Amino acid sequence: MEQKPTVALITGASSGIGEAVAWRLARKPGTRLILVARREDRLRALAKRLPCETTWVAADLTDSDAPGRILAHVQEHHPPLNLLVNNAGASWRATFADGGYENVRRTMEINFDAVLRITETFLPMLRGAAPSAIVNIASTAGRISRAGAGAYSASKYALIGWSDSLHLEEAPHGVHVGLVLPGFIATEGFPAEELRAKFLTRWMVSDVSKAAEAVYEAGVMGRPERYVPRPYGLIAVLKIIAPGLVRKVLSGGAAKAMTTKTGADAAEQAEKKSRA
Ligand SMILES: NC(=O)c1ccc[n+]([C@@H]2O[C@H](COP(=O)([O-])OP(=O)(O)OC[C@H]3O[C@@H](n4cnc5c(N)ncnc54)[C@H](OP(=O)(O)O)[C@@H]3O)[C@@H](O)[C@H]2O)c1
Repeated sequence: MEQKPTVALITGASSGIGEAVAWRLARKPGTRLILVARREDRLRALAKRLPCETTWVAADLTDSDAPGRILAHVQEHHPPLNLLVNNAGASWRATFADGGYENVRRTMEINFDAVLRITETFLPMLRGAAPSAIVNIASTAGRISRAGAGAYSASKYALIGWSDSLHLEEAPHGVHVGLVLPGFIATEGFPAEELRAKFLTRWMVSDVSKAAEAVYEAGVMGRPERYVPRPYGLIAVLKIIAPGLVRKVLSGGAAKAMTTKTGADAAEQAEKKSRA
């Protein structure tokens, strides 16, 4: 895959990690990109600035016709895809008692269901273009759950479980399935303001370029799995060998600092205020 020009579709390319992935991939000669997200103005502006052939599709990935519209666009404007980056995602923080099933449903809809639907749509094309790759952006929250983030964790645990299986199923067809598991990365959707504000926790927050490099490694260089930053992988190990300790730490003070507000929470609060 390293030698072929990359034709990549990146979901959630209008900000944060997705935008950084577009810049990282654009550095590879011959790359062609298809950017997907809801905010068309952002996609158009990014496509203009990127130093490679780039088109975009403005779509809400939870809409039933979105995968079909995106497929039609790719078929009309590009050679077959050989890289699909499933990055679009969101989080609405709430305990289960407060957010209930509805919060889990809407989180699964974008973080899990939408990924499966777009992957199902492009899988025949990816097999035809093999060697090719899919990179799913999960999260360390898909290895460890915090209070108030159960819906988000459920969606990322599900994504990881499904990705591991898809990896085994698609390897014989030449489609590599890689996973990227970011920790805290400061973005619009996940600003991690509380962590960045304190000297003691600032080190825990990484930047988008590191996540983009990990996506490159998983998608272009065939790595199976990358934590960002790498030491976050220890969390997964600790969770298995010392679950009691992990629960104790997560119910203490450090955990409260980690229960950061997400961009989706902030947007929702602003909307509520404007309606009031
Ligand atoms: N930042 C972190 O700390 C962190 C940690 C672990 C995992 N992640 C994962 O990394 C991925 C990217 O997040 P980010 O941190 O880069 O946040 P972000 O800046 O908020 O980016 C999220 C992207 O998803 C798009 N998106 C959201 N809902 C969508 C929908 N219904 N249809 C189409 N596009 C949609 C957004 O674009 P529009 O609003 O324009 O649609 C945006 O481009 C997510 O899957 C997130 O779960 C992030």
